[in-house]
Amino acid sequence: MDGNSKQAQAGPQDRLAEALGPDMAAVNAIIRARMASEHAPRIPEVTAHLIEAGGKRIRPMLVLAAAHICGYPTRHPEGEDHRKLAATVEFIHTATLLHDDVVDESEQRRGRPTANLLWDNKSSVLVGDYLFARAFQLMVEPGSLRVLDILANASATIAEGEVLQLTAAQDLTTTEEIYIKVVRGKTAALFSAATESGAVIAGASPAEVQALFTYGDALGIAFQIADDLLDYGGASAVIGKNTGDDFRERKLTLPVIKAVAASSPEERAFWTRVIEKGDQRDGDLQEALRLMEHHGALSAARDDALAWAAQARAALVPLPAHPLKDILGDLADFVVSRIA
Ligand code: IPE
Ligand code: IPE
Ligand code: MG
Ligand code: MG
Repeated sequence: MDGNSKQAQAGPQDRLAEALGPDMAAVNAIIRARMASEHAPRIPEVTAHLIEAGGKRIRPMLVLAAAHICGYPTRHPEGEDHRKLAATVEFIHTATLLHDDVVDESEQRRGRPTANLLWDNKSSVLVGDYLFARAFQLMVEPGSLRVLDILANASATIAEGEVLQLTAAQDLTTTEEIYIKVVRGKTAALFSAATESGAVIAGASPAEVQALFTYGDALGIAFQIADDLLDYGGASAVIGKNTGDDFRERKLTLPVIKAVAASSPEERAFWTRVIEKGDQRDGDLQEALRLMEHHGALSAARDDALAWAAQARAALVPLPAHPLKDILGDLADFVVSRIA
């Protein structure tokens, strides 16, 4: 098989990783160097457990791709700032995962037991704080106040999204509008900050910065809707996380919101019992799935994810021609391909 047909077969994530190979090797070296701590051995234990498990590294690749599309290597042939920002974004992401798994009482992450399970909640919270702090040290280094503004805002927005979700959980009156607000905060904010900061560090035009922000925002929303659908339908061996967590945590994710909106009085009583009262019995998850299927809630949520992915792809139009631009377009379809 020649190189070209091999490339045609690889998914956009692999194509992105290949196109950004030297950059990602440098980013991983920065991550490894900065996740250590000389003073508290628990820190490298926990960070190594999570970071060495891999993860898809989507967010740092988004920073790098945006920077390349907007001409960073041409303007700064020796520049390292895009790599530092890519590592920053992965640190912020990893910090939120450590905290998120405590909040969600999750037991599996990246195909491994979670840090909260292997160590304890205290270690996860504190090491998550440490990674946040390391992210802030790193993001200062490029010396761009605009980039600092973007990443500091995203960090606050992620936390807001997680807290909003906390109060929306168990609340059957949660609307699709609130759900999108949660998702835009907890997930899309870091995607859009990744693409926007990559564009800004490259000295992109306002129109290019806006295009990449909009792409990241729509991609992040599509990504989280897909993740929420997989919680009801994925195989944990494939996604590296347990399924059914959202139901157990009584979260109002998009398919549930749609099924509740379409429910008969009898069905509403079921949702009130399992979600609001938290009185869950054997077979309830299957019944929830049956109701979601019955009302077409799963396929409607899938359609919404596809529409956000299409918006992400469309947002790229104003950007200059670049092989990475094409891969980002395909990535938008790819993040929803697991549910399509
Ligand atoms: C997990 O993100 C958190 C969500 C926003 C659903 P990823 O699926 O990108 O996690 P890793 O980094 O690849 O493990
Ligand atoms: C993850 O949200 C978003 C953040 C980490 C901020 P979820 O709780 O839905 O993601 P998973 O399923 O644990 O990865
Ligand atoms: Mg979670
Ligand atoms: Mg969560």
